[in-house]
Amino acid sequence: MTEQHLQAGPLPSGMQLHDDGRLRHLLTIEGLPRELLVEIMDTAESFVSVQAKTVKKVPLLRGKTIVNLFFEPSTRTRTTFELAAKRLSADVLNINIATSATTKGESLLDTLRNIEAMFCDMFIVRHADSGAAHFIARHVAPHVSVLNAGDGSHAHPTQAMLDMFTIRRHKGDFTRLKVAIVGDVLHSRVARSQIHALNILNTAEVRVIAPRTLLPADVEKLGVHVFNDMDEGLHDVDVVIMLRLQKERMQSALLPSAHEYFQLYGLTNERLKAAREDAIVMHPGPANRGVEIASDVADGSRSVILEQVSNGIAIRMAIMSMVTGAAQ
Ligand code: NCD
Repeated sequence: MTEQHLQAGPLPSGMQLHDDGRLRHLLTIEGLPRELLVEIMDTAESFVSVQAKTVKKVPLLRGKTIVNLFFEPSTRTRTTFELAAKRLSADVLNINIATSATTKGESLLDTLRNIEAMFCDMFIVRHADSGAAHFIARHVAPHVSVLNAGDGSHAHPTQAMLDMFTIRRHKGDFTRLKVAIVGDVLHSRVARSQIHALNILNTAEVRVIAPRTLLPADVEKLGVHVFNDMDEGLHDVDVVIMLRLQKERMQSALLPSAHEYFQLYGLTNERLKAAREDAIVMHPGPANRGVEIASDVADGSRSVILEQVSNGIAIRMAIMSMVTGAAQ
């Protein structure tokens, strides 16, 4: 099976939702109603307090089995999904599968059938091919939910939701915010999901800042203002989201050198002066220090990078409890 097979067939609208509008799978942010994104964040808010307790567990998913199915390396995403599941008292199985390009599709369906035979309730899927989580969602039993933990350069909806949650906790109302997403938008599933989420939440202005070679064709159609100059793009923004330069996804030499990239698009304290004085700095991780972000900015007082990681647990607890119908 090839990537084409994985991508075959558009996602039927409503495939992510039950008939009554409740979340069944989370595969992409695109097309979700605003109320649902708000409900995810409100539910996450109730889980933030659980994490501050000495006993960090609630019994909402007791008796459920959740499988982390990771075909691509991950640190933050996999561990925060695992912690989220454990804090909801679910049983968790971690499966990391290194695949070669030719056997990827086959092993996907095979693995799925085998794991389903073990009576699982939820799959968390990360895969290098766009469409992999959708493919699995089409083949699972009716009681099973699938959460996309990143598919190729297509979508990373839980990352976008933890980012929205982090922005909301600092800035409140999205309708007054200017948000800039900076860097390798072309290869970034995170940026795509963030852009959808920011627009669904009616953000006043969403900007992307990047060299032309790192922007998808027709990026404006996603509902963003495009800037090729860092100082112009950062002017007056409330939130700066830096993206990792994804060298492993670059097929050709899209850039002269990491050093030159940093000169033009790296976030330094000097550059940050163009943004609002109270602007926050975000990065989904892993960050390349000295390539897209200076170390003193990543560790500085305006950086909320580690908060994003903590918020990832509450957001994932919220989504898991919503798809199983356990959220109150
Ligand atoms: C991102 C990913 O894997 O898409 N990281 C993450 O999930 N925290 C971004 C990246 O790899 O640059």
